[in-house]
Amino acid sequence: MTEISIVGLGLMGTALAGTLLKAGHEVTVWNRTDSKTEPLVAMGARRAANLAEAVRPGSLVIVCVLDYDTVHGLLGQTELRGVTLVNLTSGRPEEARRTAEWAEARGAGYLDGGVMAVPQMIGAPGALILYSGSREVFDRFAEPLGQLAEARFVDTDPGLAPLLDMAMLTGMYGQIAGITQGFALVRSAGLPLRDFASTLLVPWLRAMGELAHRWAEEVDAGQWGTDVANLGVNKVALDSIALAMREQGIEGNLLAPFKHLVDKRVADGHQDQGLQSLVEELHPGR
Ligand SMILES: NC(=O)c1ccc[n+]([C@@H]2O[C@H](COP(=O)([O-])OP(=O)(O)OC[C@H]3O[C@@H](n4cnc5c(N)ncnc54)[C@H](OP(=O)(O)O)[C@@H]3O)[C@@H](O)[C@H]2O)c1
Repeated sequence: MTEISIVGLGLMGTALAGTLLKAGHEVTVWNRTDSKTEPLVAMGARRAANLAEAVRPGSLVIVCVLDYDTVHGLLGQTELRGVTLVNLTSGRPEEARRTAEWAEARGAGYLDGGVMAVPQMIGAPGALILYSGSREVFDRFAEPLGQLAEARFVDTDPGLAPLLDMAMLTGMYGQIAGITQGFALVRSAGLPLRDFASTLLVPWLRAMGELAHRWAEEVDAGQWGTDVANLGVNKVALDSIALAMREQGIEGNLLAPFKHLVDKRVADGHQDQGLQSLVEELHPGR
């Protein structure tokens, strides 16, 4: 069995360590706040007395802390030659690229990862971790990585897993923004949200989410026309929603930046195009 260390025992690091222990690995744990090692030691983990004890040559070190500055703050003073680092800390593509170069220059193997799961999902079906960086590291540690979540290698560019992670989070936060605004509207009518969510909103979002397949194909092909609903019609709908929010006494409109984009595209004469064409306003493509 591989010698595995987990550095960082927040909610996610604790879930990662617990899952590897349950799978039968020998796991060494280290955390700034030492008391967080206790439940894992009770499960059979070895507590490292200091960080260097957890980051030993030949070991697989999975790091999961707040951010990349913390990763560098912790590992900057530690010998890394012969260590394999799998960094499951969330961050930006550029941070991942710089960290990969930095680790490799110091003699460590480096794989970056984006965790697409909450701690409760780790080790269970449905959890996904995107990896990018060293293919050799990914292949060598396929077994323990596969025990944490579905392990998907996306590219040798270390920045790609964080980029895709952020793109997925962007979709999620956009959806949450819309849900929040929709909830406010239903609340303003004095209705409970439970029935609205289960009988109306969730089925609707599932059905509409499917449109992303079609839009993705159209954007890839540079097709901006539509037989669904053009930007002119969507502009009327978004104007009307903004007005209704005000009439219902709702503070703010989280859709405002999106509405601004639709307004601009229509003002530029593209009212016959579909919603998928808005991506052109954000990036022209490569
Ligand atoms: N939780 C999730 O659902 C989730 C999902 C996907 C990705 N992630 C990512 O996983 C990473 C960890 O998230 P988490 O939920 O486990 O966060 P968390 O519970 O807040 O834990 C943060 C960890 O970072 C450590 N830390 C923070 N500042 C530090 C410093 N200056 N020096 C040393 N250690 C420091 C903390 O140590 P102490 O215990 O000593 O404070 C703790 O181990 C983040 O990058 C997050 O984006 C989390």
